[in-house]
Amino acid sequence: MLRTHTCGQLDEANFGETVTLCGWVDSYRDHGGGLFVDLRDRYGLTQVVFNPPDSPPAVIETSKTLRAEYVIKVTGKVAPRPEGMANPKMTTGKIEVRAVEFELLNESLTPPVSPSAKEAPGEDLRLKHRYLDLRRPEMQRTLFLRSAMIKSMRDYLAAQDFVDIETPILGRSTPEGARDYLVPSRVHQGAFYALPQSPQLYKQILMIGGYDRYVQVARCFRDEDLRADRQPEFTQLDLEMAFVDQDDVMGVIDGLVSNLAKEHLGLEVATPFPKMTYDEAMERFGHDAPDLRFAMEIIDCSDLAAKSDFSVFKSVVGSGGRVRAINAKNGKSQYSRRGIDTLTDYAKEFGAKGLAWFRVEEDGSLGGTITKFFGEELLAEFAARVDAEPGDLILFSADNFGATCKVLHALRTKIGREMQLYDSQAMHFSWVVEFPMFECDEGHHYAGEAKLAGETEPVGGAERWQAMHHPFTAPLAKHVELLASDPGKCRAQAYDLVINGNEAGGGTIRIHDAHVQQQVFDLLGIDETVAKERFGFLLDALRYGAPPHGGIALGIDRLVMLFGKLDNIRDCIAFPKTQKATDMMTEAPGEVDTRQLRELGIRRDE
Ligand code: AMO
Ligand code: AMP
Repeated sequence: MLRTHTCGQLDEANFGETVTLCGWVDSYRDHGGGLFVDLRDRYGLTQVVFNPPDSPPAVIETSKTLRAEYVIKVTGKVAPRPEGMANPKMTTGKIEVRAVEFELLNESLTPPVSPSAKEAPGEDLRLKHRYLDLRRPEMQRTLFLRSAMIKSMRDYLAAQDFVDIETPILGRSTPEGARDYLVPSRVHQGAFYALPQSPQLYKQILMIGGYDRYVQVARCFRDEDLRADRQPEFTQLDLEMAFVDQDDVMGVIDGLVSNLAKEHLGLEVATPFPKMTYDEAMERFGHDAPDLRFAMEIIDCSDLAAKSDFSVFKSVVGSGGRVRAINAKNGKSQYSRRGIDTLTDYAKEFGAKGLAWFRVEEDGSLGGTITKFFGEELLAEFAARVDAEPGDLILFSADNFGATCKVLHALRTKIGREMQLYDSQAMHFSWVVEFPMFECDEGHHYAGEAKLAGETEPVGGAERWQAMHHPFTAPLAKHVELLASDPGKCRAQAYDLVINGNEAGGGTIRIHDAHVQQQVFDLLGIDETVAKERFGFLLDALRYGAPPHGGIALGIDRLVMLFGKLDNIRDCIAFPKTQKATDMMTEAPGEVDTRQLRELGIRRDE
């Protein structure tokens, strides 16, 4: 090694030792007589002093050419910092290295992104010069956390007999509901591989192949609209188990995730994590990944609304819609009339037609512009229903069920954040279970994650039903009959792991019966020829003694984002893509040679 110690290692125990450090010049201060440098590597910062009498004049002289991000190797003596100069917050805060000699290992251009800056620079710059951004301590902390979390997960599962098996990247389309990334074949011109949206089909085949417990840190590719928590390529902790029911799979994840919370956040989380059905989640929180760090539940007021003279409420209830409310406790002072207008505009972004509201006055009565449409008695009933207390702000959404869910979930999330209704350091783990098997193409059911992508192109043309998770998901045993009679009511053996209002993972028990699988394909309008062509191998495999099996995939990027208390998934990926799915550093995707295209049998439209 070029060095004897790292920049985060030395303390009083090393006083008097001669050491050699290597690192980057984080900052430098010229004090006339000499130079102070904070030397940085991934382990920390060490103050290096080029000063008489320890440093020879020639060394001091050349040290003055040092600039930010120069790379040096320096040898010197560990000494206590002068009286009053110690920094108790740093491991190396009591010492300094008095340079005797140094070697310039490399110069640096003036960095457009400064690793030592207190404030992170603009994201475009950070992504373009990722090599500099990666030097920032925040970035390094996150990637170390990511590495450590992945190691924990692997160790935990290996101890439980999970086998790590890699599955192909070049394969056939897997139906997770997004658009595929395609790779043209040179050998078979006109034919394409699809990059995996997940290893779903392979892991099921592995169960049929007898591996019993499979795990993989798997890269997945989905060409869908990107958001703060979504990347076109992302990483799953993907697992599958045979001879299990859904409680077994959730039990493994309870153990795995509570262990992660203990090892990486020092939190003791009680298991099993609480469970709530999808229908209950939509009713109480308007979303299939409810943020349970705070209350503010949705309250149905449809029956009361029907009794009012308020035309908006009456007509919505009359046409089978719902009038639902949330009570922002003490929201009256937070949201003035102007504030309510802002909330209204925000709600409209989520499809609201308006935002009716009541304020609760000091005497406990309801106030606001729409009270004139309600009799006194009815107002009192409303007040009781929403648990009105002086200072509260009650907000209503009147619409079809799905639309009220969307609007009230958005408002609840915004108000929860703005009114700081939860501790930003808190972590809440829970399950949402019993998802619908299918959602209607017309969007009768509130759209889940896959549908929100808005990119779903149903396999095999326009049909009524879409799989809410994927087409291999088993219905609840007691709901198998509903497949034939009332598919909309059919609930699945499906479960999502929810952390702080984020979908951190999702899985299902699979269909292991070729007949039921065919029934589901029929409902999804996947005709036999298409099913044979696309999933023929799975249908075949199911006929050769497929064991009951099921599994789950956790979004590793999202887990790291949540454990690292970050707002953006790009901050926990070393080389992420922008919202526009480009890599700003390598400038991918890029043009290719005409010759390469010709080899692939591809011609571009001019
Ligand atoms: P699903 O599609 O729910 O299930 O994905 C599992 C988890 O992966 C994460 N995730 C993403 N993270 C970042 N960017 C994305 N674009 C993205 N899409 C999904 C989420 C999600 O909960 N094969 C099934 C799993 C199974 O049934 O076993 C699957 O992929 O955290
Ligand atoms: P309007 O009669 O359209 O002036 O609306 C009266 C009040 O009801 C306003 O505060 C609107 O924002 C609100 N409002 C209108 N439509 C809806 C709706 N679908 N849900 C909730 N509030 C609404």
